[in-house]
Amino acid sequence: MSLITWTEEQFGTKVGFADDEHKGIFDRLNKLYDLATGGADRSEVGAALDDLIGYVADHFAHEEREMEAKGFGGLAAHKAEHDALVNTCVDLQSKFKAGEADVTEETGAMVKGWLENHIPTFDFAYSDALNS
Ligand code: FEO
Repeated sequence: MSLITWTEEQFGTKVGFADDEHKGIFDRLNKLYDLATGGADRSEVGAALDDLIGYVADHFAHEEREMEAKGFGGLAAHKAEHDALVNTCVDLQSKFKAGEADVTEETGAMVKGWLENHIPTFDFAYSDALNS
């Protein structure tokens, strides 16, 4: 069973690019989680981790560009949330590459929990502005 499943009710922002990219994040997170908890080679897990982090960073930058273009007042607080997750993930990535950390069930649960909070709380808030 997938770690996280996108549904309109729980995660729909009513902003097309954001919903598409969130689905892309969920797919990559589920793949990473399955590899990491299924005993895959460390090189495969590392490649999936790199793919997820790169995709997430691109998504955050895309949202931030769109919020800025619309003059959305919540940009600074929203960007701070993004930066905090990226910092956590980049730290994990460097520790993983150094052999000092693994991708675990707890890692998956942490990212899942972050998305379940961030999308309804922060991403839903830009819906009207980005659709105006
Ligand atoms: Fe879709 Fe603010 O991340």
